[in-house]
Amino acid sequence: YYLPKFFKYLILGGGVAAGYAAREFVKQGVKPGELGIVSEESVTPYERPALSKGYLFPTNAARLPEFHVCVGSGGERLDPKWYEEKGIELILNTKIVEASLHSKTLRSENGIILRFGALIIATGSRVIKLSDFGVEGDDQAKNILYLRDVKDADKIIEEMRDKKNGKVVVVGGGYIGLEVGAALKLNNLSVTMVYNDPWLMSRLFTKEIAEFYERYYMSRGINLINETSVIELEADSSGEVKKVKLKNGRELEADFVVVGVGARPSTSLFQGQIEMSRGGIKTDGLFKTSIDDVYAIGDVAWFPMKIYNEMRRVEHVDHARKSAMKAVEGIMAKGKVVEEYDYVPYFYSRVFDLSWRFYGDNVGDATVVFGNRNPGAKKPKFGCYWIKDGRIMGGFLEGGSDEENKAIQNMAWHQHKVEDLQELKAKAERTVVHN
Ligand code: FDA
Ligand code: NAD
Repeated sequence: YYLPKFFKYLILGGGVAAGYAAREFVKQGVKPGELGIVSEESVTPYERPALSKGYLFPTNAARLPEFHVCVGSGGERLDPKWYEEKGIELILNTKIVEASLHSKTLRSENGIILRFGALIIATGSRVIKLSDFGVEGDDQAKNILYLRDVKDADKIIEEMRDKKNGKVVVVGGGYIGLEVGAALKLNNLSVTMVYNDPWLMSRLFTKEIAEFYERYYMSRGINLINETSVIELEADSSGEVKKVKLKNGRELEADFVVVGVGARPSTSLFQGQIEMSRGGIKTDGLFKTSIDDVYAIGDVAWFPMKIYNEMRRVEHVDHARKSAMKAVEGIMAKGKVVEEYDYVPYFYSRVFDLSWRFYGDNVGDATVVFGNRNPGAKKPKFGCYWIKDGRIMGGFLEGGSDEENKAIQNMAWHQHKVEDLQELKAKAERTVVHN
């Protein structure tokens, strides 16, 4: 029915990486009509991190078009008009259900056929569902919410309005759990967080770091239940979940449930066609995959992390932006030599009045914690270094200034040598006290 449409360059996915790639294509001289972006979402690329933060605020909430890319890194805001002016075709509300990488064709759910010269896979991640763990009652009820895109965030807002001052159970004590838990509390809901790890954000935080946030959350009136998981979500006759049953035997009342139990790269379309590892698409240092003219960026890329001499996948926005720019630089190089991606991981979060940053790798044989971890302090400020074989591998800082965060980034990047842990601690203590 539809005639196939050809693009010299086609981006599959319309998230963070797609938006930053589009900007880079324009910078590198792409011509009108050469670039297309196909996305399941109904809006042009935006800064996804806003969804679990400003978007959920009770007042002055962030709304599109305010946070289209690239405002999250202090860049120009690319609104729909920008794409039009640059001759970039946005094919929105279009889910790709079949990809044939060898014949360079994509097919959408509604029958559109797209052909490409080069393809950039930027499909990001999808949420892991409680039903994936065999939890009963997950798929049936309309008040069990996940968070990945604007539509999901709008559903959370709707439930917050409908269940004013009600009870909400947040499942997961990772990024989504912490950020959404805080936002729900700011909206005056009674919040209980349940997670199956011994402490919050256990993938990154040490016990000492987590302890601060746990005490802080409790002081804000949030209930925390650790080391247990959800086994059943029990709905009433109206089809809404009212009860959350835990493995430890407890039962929690809930007006609605928000779940953040992790994400998986969205790569099922390419299974069996391309080299992959643990769900990620294998790339080189310029994000080329095992197939000619096919690239993968952002959450889906399993790429050589030069600094650690290891293949890694990173599910964070800074890498989504930078991998996108690097891939496009390579695609448009026209014979020019492009340096391979050289990256030090950077993660961050903001909740309530708190704000932390982490640079590097949270590995090693020792950690050094410094500063004031009293959650009652007017401005708590503390940090942590991870040390391996006498070198700083990672650095964490809560409440740091731009300059201090830069210093931490620098240490993780250059892997500063550490002679004496006591000395490192004393020096760090002096620095946080004086600033
Ligand atoms: P992204 O998920 O942004 O985009 C993927 C796009 O592909 C989507 O538009 C999707 O609809 C589309 N797509 C997928 N399959 C498709 C198909 N078959 N057909 C058509 N379209 C398809 N990180 C961080 O460092 N700091 C932070 O504060 C946050 N905060 C945060 C909040 C929330 C709520 C989430 C969900 C995530 C974060 N992150 C984050 C993580 C960060 O947002 C994430 O790493 C990047 O968005 C990844 O960018 P990508 O472009 O790879 O995927
Ligand atoms: P996560 O991996 O950060 O956290 C998962 C949490 O769920 C952990 O606390 C874990 O203990 C818990 N959990 C897992 N299975 C469980 C079960 N069966 N019952 C109870 N608890 C269980 O994942 P997330 O918070 O869902 O984040 C999803 C994605 O969004 C990730 O890619 C993340 O990087 C991204 N994100 C990042 C940020 C940020 O960087 N600030 C913010 C939001 C989202």
